[in-house]
Amino acid sequence: MVAGLSLEQKADLVTGDTFWTTAGIPRSGRAPEIPSIMLADGPHGLRRQVAAADHLGLEQSVPATCFPPAVALGSAFDRDLAHRVGAAIASEARAEGVGVVLGPGLNIKRSPLCGRNFEYLSEDPLVSGEMAAALTQGIQSRGVGASLKHFAANNQEHDRMRSSSDVDARPLREIYLRGFERAVKQARPWTVMSAYNRINGVSASENRWLLTEVLREDWSFEGLVVSDWFAVADRAQALQAGLDLEMPTTGGVSQQHVLEAVRSGELEETALDDCAERVIRLIQQVLRGAEAGAEADDAGSPASADAAASAGAHHELAREAAARSAVLLKNEGQLLPLHPQSSVAVIGEFARRPRFQGAGSSQINPIRVEDAYSAIAEVAEGPVSFAPGFALPGEEPDGSPEESDPAGLREEAAEAASSADVAVVFLGLPAEEESEGFDRAHLDLPAEQLELLDAVLAANPSTAVVLSHGGVVALPFAHRVPAILDAWLLGQAGGSATADLLFGAANPSGRLTETIPLRLADTPAYLDFPGEHGHVRYGEGIFVGYRWYDARQMEVAFPFGHGLSYTQFEYADLQVEADDAGLQLRVTVTNTGERSGREVVQAYASRPESSVARPPRELKAFASVELAAGESQAVELSVPRQDLAHWDIRLEDWAVEGGRHVVAVGASSRDLRLETSVELPEDEIALPLSEESTLDDALAHPVTGPMIRSQLEQAAGADTSVFSAEGTLRMMKSFPLGRISSFGNSGLDAQKAQELIALTQKD
Ligand code: BGC
Repeated sequence: MVAGLSLEQKADLVTGDTFWTTAGIPRSGRAPEIPSIMLADGPHGLRRQVAAADHLGLEQSVPATCFPPAVALGSAFDRDLAHRVGAAIASEARAEGVGVVLGPGLNIKRSPLCGRNFEYLSEDPLVSGEMAAALTQGIQSRGVGASLKHFAANNQEHDRMRSSSDVDARPLREIYLRGFERAVKQARPWTVMSAYNRINGVSASENRWLLTEVLREDWSFEGLVVSDWFAVADRAQALQAGLDLEMPTTGGVSQQHVLEAVRSGELEETALDDCAERVIRLIQQVLRGAEAGAEADDAGSPASADAAASAGAHHELAREAAARSAVLLKNEGQLLPLHPQSSVAVIGEFARRPRFQGAGSSQINPIRVEDAYSAIAEVAEGPVSFAPGFALPGEEPDGSPEESDPAGLREEAAEAASSADVAVVFLGLPAEEESEGFDRAHLDLPAEQLELLDAVLAANPSTAVVLSHGGVVALPFAHRVPAILDAWLLGQAGGSATADLLFGAANPSGRLTETIPLRLADTPAYLDFPGEHGHVRYGEGIFVGYRWYDARQMEVAFPFGHGLSYTQFEYADLQVEADDAGLQLRVTVTNTGERSGREVVQAYASRPESSVARPPRELKAFASVELAAGESQAVELSVPRQDLAHWDIRLEDWAVEGGRHVVAVGASSRDLRLETSVELPEDEIALPLSEESTLDDALAHPVTGPMIRSQLEQAAGADTSVFSAEGTLRMMKSFPLGRISSFGNSGLDAQKAQELIALTQKD
């Protein structure tokens, strides 16, 4: 098909025709028509705009189900749930004629300050990759393409269209690319969206290394690369790098640039052909998907034919997802679940005007929105009162004058709390404080909310806090409040899900996908965020999130992976087997409490004697298991050998170190219940030696290592040397081979060194 297109048509095809659509090419001669397709945000619901279009959520979009944003859905650690949410979003997309949903977003939460963290899944690449793969598979199971975004190292909003993420090879591969690699290989997304930022000086959208060498050649990605909106500065460079589709329209400017670049020889026409071909392939996929997806819908959800029934089913799914996403951080004295007959004071404006999604391109127009106050009033059997407690910025709580002054609101709330059995206080970040486009400057909740909480606690110590926010907030009150439910942003059904959790109709089971630090100054990127003059240095290297807090042995407010339940789980009989494929783990988990619940079983690995810097532990597998009260289940987890590898900067490749690897399983990164270790064979690494290689390098080499060792042993045994072979080695190991002239009676001299080097040269 590409061969039958003119240069102009190819230039049209690789550039957005409107804000959301690709160009259609009319039928000509024997060449068939190429229809246009529509793309739309994502990622936690559909943002399909009919009238005015924008990429910042400023203009209205058609109503769609608002599922919990990634910050919450990720916390469910539930692949099946993510798959079902993805499928539901895709069904709504297809009903609106949308062929590609722009999500999921899986950038690593490098700093809690990133304004867009609510759209991302985790500080950990395994969680990000697994959950993004499940969402992608769900979306694509309904014949709609997904778009993994934003590729890559897009971890802040400050200066986002220019800033260079200056990051070393190991963190780039092990932290920032690893989740993408996983999702690309597992879920085969139809598209990947290139990010706005630069990586080590080169724009992600014009980065041949990233888009072609890593994505297509290393990872075998066969889909299409679409730019983030307005990310492309030099269209010819971007095409040459492998960026297939530029979005949105540039009003013909890009097409002109492409034509001139081909005619002047700056751009090879074959590069344009490759991109045009991938655009055509995506269009064909979308057309085929529209048919296949309709069938999948009919099979998967009988309700989908009827829009109202489908909206109802999707709302129920949004409620289930929200209930599985919230994280119970603390529950002293089993304050929760609330007794149905308790009198409850619901306090905080967020209970009435919920914050359920973040601002920017992912902001969708929900079909309906539930608030927690009404939902609580509906399920509670005892009396329920309400006090707003604080006013949201720019809004009067109720219009009554005494209520708008903070002291009056506090007093009213304290009064409500003192006359109820339990107070439930809804605190959170006002919508204005976090969004796409800018980062936060601090982690604090508004001071008046903290003062309100103090007043309520003084009036009634039986107080539970429910939090609504997209990015992590500091919890200076954590030790003073008996119960905290972190509800993040729960989507349109967050209200009823919260009531379900508070009264125990649902048992909390979400887990933290990011550490809650004690203070901003403790966070890994604190000294290097958000950078300056167009550069941000990723100085913390691989020590991101819990990897940092664990390596530095720091106290945190709540650790990665943490989350309580209304029941308890015990772990027993950890068995680990190692073979060529990796590790097979088996552990028995028992629900020892009195109600059914879900446990997220987490497996961490470490390599204490590693030759490279490593965090004390890294998450390598997780499983979500539902257990009835008293029930036991053997849970199996597997860790592919590749996942135990680190990026070896000398090899420019992954390598698994041999020797002892420790495996621990448990309920969070700091609640590990069982531990064992296994011996793994080493990946054979035989780097050629040079004069700059040290004796230590030569010892690590499979050919020269044994030779040197036996020579030194002979020398140490035979003669006058005061040192043992080991002692000699310890002193000499950093000596470059090229500078060895003679070493006592060790037998190592310049000639021997040259012989060793020669032995390691590849043919
Ligand atoms: C965002 C993308 C989004 C696009 C289209 C950009 O501002 O970074 O995530 O998909 O707009 O709305």
